[in-house]
Amino acid sequence: MNKLYIHPLPVRVWHWTNAIGFVLLIASGVQIRYLDLFQLMSFRTAVVAHNWIGFVLIANFFIWLGFYLFSDKIKVYHPELSPMKYFRASFRQMQFYGYGIFRGEPNPHHPSAYRKFNPLQSMMYQIIMMLLVPIMFFTGVLLWDVTRFSSVVDMLGGVRVVDTVHVLLFILFSGFIIVHIYLASLGHTPSAHFKAMITGFEEVEDEVEETGTTS
Ligand code: HEM
Repeated sequence: MNKLYIHPLPVRVWHWTNAIGFVLLIASGVQIRYLDLFQLMSFRTAVVAHNWIGFVLIANFFIWLGFYLFSDKIKVYHPELSPMKYFRASFRQMQFYGYGIFRGEPNPHHPSAYRKFNPLQSMMYQIIMMLLVPIMFFTGVLLWDVTRFSSVVDMLGGVRVVDTVHVLLFILFSGFIIVHIYLASLGHTPSAHFKAMITGFEEVEDEVEETGTTS
């Protein structure tokens, strides 16, 4: 086994701030929406916490975006432009998750510093980070002050539409976190990917180490 530096510090700081923030947003959001079902905190505390955490995560998002835009690490998010190649690799990865992993077969994806994501992660993370997270934040800001943003809210179909999009994304993110944690536990040991997201270093097989910093 060799160690490959795969998650630079800004990505790790962004990720864990984002992860803790999302969990707190979900808890305070559930409290705001289902006031009579849960009593985790007062309604007022939930609203204030939800707004503050939301704004912290919006600022945090720009750490992630800025880091990738202004470093060559953006290559990890470059899509595979050959659809045939992409679908073949995705299918192989799905076969591994659905079948191969239970038979002890090796993971078909071998990470490197510039190709750390398998094709499914690559697609999933692009959709999450470049589409769904921005929509979540945008609808959140509109709902934070519907009077101030009334013209935009009306243009989008009214508060009900904006709120529905926000709540649907909340459901989707709650599901995403569960699937994400399960998939993140499928490294060569259950804690390998979690440790990598803390230390920055992922352990890889000697022969697949191609690019990037090693130690
Ligand atoms: C709540 C608990 C969470 C845990 C324990 C967790 C864990 C992890 C781990 C171990 C990795 C590295 C392995 C991998 O690449 O899959 C990772 C990467 C990633 N996670 Fe999470 N995650 C959490 C929440 C979230 C949330 C809420 C989001 C987005 C809304 C998110 C988005 C991402 C992204 C985009 C990456 C790849 C980051 C990069 O290298 O650019 N995670 N996560």
